[in-house]
Amino acid sequence: MESRALAVEAALVRLLDGRLRDGEIARPGRLLEAMRHGVLAGGKRLRPFLVMESAAIFDAGGEAVLRVAAALECVHCYSLIHDDLPSMDNDDVRRGKPTVHRAFDEAAAILAGDGLLTYAFDILADDATGLPAATRLELVLGLARAAGIGGMVGGQMLDLDAARARPGEAGIVTLQAMKTGALIRYACEAGAVAGQADAADRERLAEFGSAIGLAFQLADDLLDVTGDAAQLGKATGKDKGAGKATLVALHGQDWTERQLRGLVDQARTLLEPFGSKAAHLVEAASFIAERRR
Ligand code: IPE
Ligand code: IPE
Ligand code: MG
Ligand code: MG
Ligand code: MG
Repeated sequence: MESRALAVEAALVRLLDGRLRDGEIARPGRLLEAMRHGVLAGGKRLRPFLVMESAAIFDAGGEAVLRVAAALECVHCYSLIHDDLPSMDNDDVRRGKPTVHRAFDEAAAILAGDGLLTYAFDILADDATGLPAATRLELVLGLARAAGIGGMVGGQMLDLDAARARPGEAGIVTLQAMKTGALIRYACEAGAVAGQADAADRERLAEFGSAIGLAFQLADDLLDVTGDAAQLGKATGKDKGAGKATLVALHGQDWTERQLRGLVDQARTLLEPFGSKAAHLVEAASFIAERRR
């Protein structure tokens, strides 16, 4: 994971430089600084890792896959910057550093998020991605769907409404599949798309992504209760305080841990047809369930 993280970090540094791209008029320094603050240093880079490992099953890699991974990480980082805003979760610390609205101001944080979301589609669509135009289009559309109304953004809306709407188990599972699961599912599927995998293999990786995506948010909610803020690089005890609807709040820690083990088994079974080529992804599923950060 560390070597994949270093590779994507280097790509992100390159992409967030001050050099003007064709059609741009100027890249304001303060905007770039706020974007870099929200993107560079500290993240686990799990989603890029999933893109790269999923692509590697189909022997794809290099600049094309790196750019797909970087584009997705831009969307993820934007989601964190906006998630932390005072009007959302109101957090001061992220990845062990002040949140973007703390280090800069609220307007800069909103614009840094807007900039990252937009730039993700620029990165994917650009010729430099080197994939056939039809593949790039498929990746762009997939990311839009995963990030948008019926995906992450929709899930964030449901998450904010949940304190009032008090959803049951099915409602919480839907909310989590959207706010967190959709981008993780996309990570796994996008690697297969970039690797020109056939429809059945794409679907298998997407299903793997859904299983670990749900596991990822279950673990996040568990860590909000049991985790160490310094190790996590963000505050804990937030969900209870905000009356967030989580499965940990509904069913307790033991149930959640059992559920996590079940999801890891399910994820592992889905990858069996790929044999040793999927070894890193299988390990990633366990990492997600057992992680402390
Ligand atoms: C945190 O995501 C937000 C959730 C979707 C739960 P990560 O735990 O992947 O955050 P970073 O990127 O490593 O900081
Ligand atoms: C975050 O869920 C989901 C997105 C950013 C889309 P949380 O609000 O639980 O994430 P953390 O705990 O702040 O990282
Ligand atoms: Mg939130
Ligand atoms: Mg939050
Ligand atoms: Mg959380």
